[in-house]
Amino acid sequence: MKFDTPAGTNPIDRMKVVGKPLDRIDGPAKTTGMAPYAYEHHREAPNAAYGYIVGAAIAKGRISSMNVADAKAAPGVLAVVTASEAGKLGKGKYNTAKLLGGPEIDHYHQAIAVVVAETFEQARAAAGLVRVSYARATGRFDLEEALKTAPLASGSQDTPPKPDRVGDFEQAFAAAPVKLDARYTTPDHSHAMMEPFASIAAWEGDRLNVWTSNQMIDWGRTDLATTLGMPKEKIRFMSPYVGGGFGGKLFLRTDAVMAALGAKAAGRPVKVAMSRPFLMNNTTHRPATRQRIRIGANRDGKITAIAHESGSGDLPNGRPETAVTQTRLLYAGANRLTSLRLAVLDLPEGNSMRAPGEAPGMMALEVAMDEMAETLGLDPVEFRIRNDTQVDPAKPERRFSQRNLVRCLREGADRFGWTRRNAQPAQVSDGRWLVGMGVAAAFRNHVSLPSGARVRLGQDGIVTVETDMTDIGTGSYTIIAQTAAEMMGLPIERVVVKLGDSSFPVSSGSGGQFGAGSSTSGVYAACVKLRDAVAQRLGYSSADAVFDGGKVRSGNRSTDLAEAARAGELVVEDTMEWGDLDKTYQQSTFGAHFVEVGVDRFTGMIRIRRMLAVAEAGRILNPKSARSQMIGAMTMGVGGALMEELAVDKRFGFFVNHDLAGYEVPVHADIPHQEVIFLEEVDPTVSPMKAKGIGELGLCGVGAAVANAVYNATGVRVRDYPVTLDKHL
Ligand code: MOS
Repeated sequence: MKFDTPAGTNPIDRMKVVGKPLDRIDGPAKTTGMAPYAYEHHREAPNAAYGYIVGAAIAKGRISSMNVADAKAAPGVLAVVTASEAGKLGKGKYNTAKLLGGPEIDHYHQAIAVVVAETFEQARAAAGLVRVSYARATGRFDLEEALKTAPLASGSQDTPPKPDRVGDFEQAFAAAPVKLDARYTTPDHSHAMMEPFASIAAWEGDRLNVWTSNQMIDWGRTDLATTLGMPKEKIRFMSPYVGGGFGGKLFLRTDAVMAALGAKAAGRPVKVAMSRPFLMNNTTHRPATRQRIRIGANRDGKITAIAHESGSGDLPNGRPETAVTQTRLLYAGANRLTSLRLAVLDLPEGNSMRAPGEAPGMMALEVAMDEMAETLGLDPVEFRIRNDTQVDPAKPERRFSQRNLVRCLREGADRFGWTRRNAQPAQVSDGRWLVGMGVAAAFRNHVSLPSGARVRLGQDGIVTVETDMTDIGTGSYTIIAQTAAEMMGLPIERVVVKLGDSSFPVSSGSGGQFGAGSSTSGVYAACVKLRDAVAQRLGYSSADAVFDGGKVRSGNRSTDLAEAARAGELVVEDTMEWGDLDKTYQQSTFGAHFVEVGVDRFTGMIRIRRMLAVAEAGRILNPKSARSQMIGAMTMGVGGALMEELAVDKRFGFFVNHDLAGYEVPVHADIPHQEVIFLEEVDPTVSPMKAKGIGELGLCGVGAAVANAVYNATGVRVRDYPVTLDKHL
């Protein structure tokens, strides 16, 4: 099915199952331990041996010699695979550095060998016996330094690396009566998902089965095939449950490659899990940014000029962190400039982390807006409202399909008691606490990806959905079941959902907050076909067949849905393809974050007191799982604001705090009260589901709202994240 005109009324609009705050259908399997994660497929891959990865001990240079004899002779060892044993490996489309390094080393803890043994302990002990000598080369590890000579970069392959200009920024900024010119920094961030990267590989002749933890089944399968130099049809790639990804698991990583190579060498299934201290330098991270924002406005608070320039670094042939994306679209203003710079660094690979671009970009832009509002003597909510735009500022003929940012801000302000905020900083206290309130807008662009599904109507009247879509803790199982139930007129108990298997139709996968809208649309398309097949089987006209209450009605005839499958299971498959409505309409998601903090006036300790988000993302498919996405993202935003920072060792080129003791993320005790409100709006231009994603929107802007609240509490403006107490004492 192709979606190329705004959606009219369809069965989803009944909202008998869709839109209900249903419990997760995979909840019982997860909470009873019956849901198998990547490392737990003992039944499908019995007698698996254990692989332990050896990581490079230098960041840049060459392996001059490697001795694996002692490791091979160690107790229980079945095989040791290095780059020389593995022979020529390809490089996947989505990988910047090779997943098995040597002799050249691209970054610290790049995999250089896997040791396979009967037990995990034997593999780990033998890995310690692999002796490596290196010829160290000089690496580039200092972002500030590298940015001095870094060229302009482009955020996508379709656009040339040049600044994006509208009007004449320089002239308008020079002429503006009120201005801001400020620099902001965000550090490298780690996804720090709960479940580390892990894979089990089992060969059957020349066919390979891989159970892994990955957000994008088809990307992973394709890149594994490229890496191993084999046809992708011979790989079955499975990831039915994922313990968090946040973008870190969008791509094939070395655990899957090492498991496959180790299993081949050992002649047995092999399981490989990355240890936490290994994965934080071996896998990807959100790159640090250096951002400069200039805003010029008239005294009435109307922005006349806005510029946002951001620099980041990555390995050779890597990508920039696109931190300026939202600044092209969020506020009005006739004269605009945005640009990206990309420096070459020899640190581990930078790549997507939850809301890549907007998350760190909003951390800067929304503090700049707070600063500008204060300079203008305007309330920061009012300043944002004054600069709302209903069209793409660069292409006024292109309207936002749905944009109620003003409502998000107003409703949030009401609900939060914003009028109680004192605009003068450092005036409000509660015992030893200085109390402050902060606000920020939320913005994240909407994207749809093609997404396929197969649906079966069994003789028992059960509808089974099969798609390679993943559920990374987000609730995909449940919203897909709700979609199929609504379409087929069944209670959700009569729908079975099977995900995360490359033997199912290719879906959007999970990422970029495109998963919910795209994957349910694919299920919608397949269900339209199934309804036709049912009607045809029963001799009904599919135009007037009504699916409801487990029955199909047409005129005065009515049949149990199960009856339609009596003569044999009905199986259909379809993929939702997307036309170019996203060129006619600018499709984005919006919100407003409100935060109250307390800052200990003696120690400087910062505590969150309450948080509120108002979000607009089209139809909310399941308010319970959507709320979970929002509060999880808000919690991550608190981490970004106050705690998270990968500390770079600029001498040796690695992240020093490579575990969860050194890399701090918030815990429940850090987050006392969170509230989430969704605007009841639908967006018919995005899909038949009329729903956009909220998984990343919830993160965008939170960090700035926290930083703005800390400023309101203390009167000290910190522009370098994380906002730790030493910076405002
Ligand atoms: Mo997201 S960073 O695209 O999983």
